[in-house]
Amino acid sequence: MSRLSDLRYSDVTPQSIYVNRRRFLATAAAAAGAIAGPFSGQGRAAALTGAKSAFSTTEKPTPQQVITSYNNYYEFGTGKDEPVRNAPKWKVPAPWTVQIGGAVAKPKTLDLDAILKLAPLEERIYRHRCVEGWSIVVPWIGFSLSALLKQVEPTAKAKYVAFETYYDPKAMLSAREAGIPFPYKEGLRVDEAMHPLTLLSMGLYGETLPNQNGAPLRLVIPWKYGFKSIKSINKITFTEKQPDTAWATYAPNEYGFYSNVNPKRDHPRWSQASENRLGEGFLGKGTRRPTEMFNGYAAQVAGLYNGMDLMRNY
Ligand code: MTE
Repeated sequence: MSRLSDLRYSDVTPQSIYVNRRRFLATAAAAAGAIAGPFSGQGRAAALTGAKSAFSTTEKPTPQQVITSYNNYYEFGTGKDEPVRNAPKWKVPAPWTVQIGGAVAKPKTLDLDAILKLAPLEERIYRHRCVEGWSIVVPWIGFSLSALLKQVEPTAKAKYVAFETYYDPKAMLSAREAGIPFPYKEGLRVDEAMHPLTLLSMGLYGETLPNQNGAPLRLVIPWKYGFKSIKSINKITFTEKQPDTAWATYAPNEYGFYSNVNPKRDHPRWSQASENRLGEGFLGKGTRRPTEMFNGYAAQVAGLYNGMDLMRNY
């Protein structure tokens, strides 16, 4: 994430760019004959609406065009403008299944249709703060992750939940090319995962998720830095021990397990005191504002961390 050596790598390594482009083109050709459905991917959006939620911010949503074209999705490129070019060529596998197991009484593999029936869809307008210092406001469509997690009946041993992104080496960058381990992994404590604000999202702006935003379903944890909001999930495991996560594995001194938005704790290489809200101001380049503790969600979530030193447990 904004690592100078990564930037240099992708900027000055024509061979890797060449290899990647060839790979993405091959994927597009393979996808061309695929059957289109509401969740078939290939950049085709279907309507997906949800009821208004009391959890929504009244802040103005960032333009859809910004949310869907300025992305972090390292599987499809490390530049902000690469996922929008490369991810739509990926054919989202159908049926999409999510395998849920580990420390649970009833392990299950559910497909998207079954998941969509678990709870009514809501529109949740959340602030999203990336650890890199930019922010957006997104009208997500989805429901609390707890509705899905309850299905498998976690046991007393379950203290954490580990999440994994679907990984297709033929359609996505290699870990070496991207600079972080794949499949992309994230994790939460069980109480964080069960918190009503933690959203399982299948859409934004009244449509199914574009591939670059994590189709067909992803997490959104609005009080944590954006990298916790893992995209395109196909595996969930309840664990006794704190699971490994992609960014903490890559640089443990820079990216912690908790990664709660905290304006007082600077990243070792930059300040976290303020953020650039994309899509506003001169030419939509963004306007600066102070970053809030827990990204403005302290009233709802601060209690999860009572007695913890948040400077050390970053
Ligand atoms: N999930 C996967 N699988 N791969 C990624 O590279 N990037 C993360 C997160 N989830 C990422 C991911 C980061 S750093 C951010 S800020 C958000 O996705 C960006 O979400 P957006 O592109 O929908 O704004």
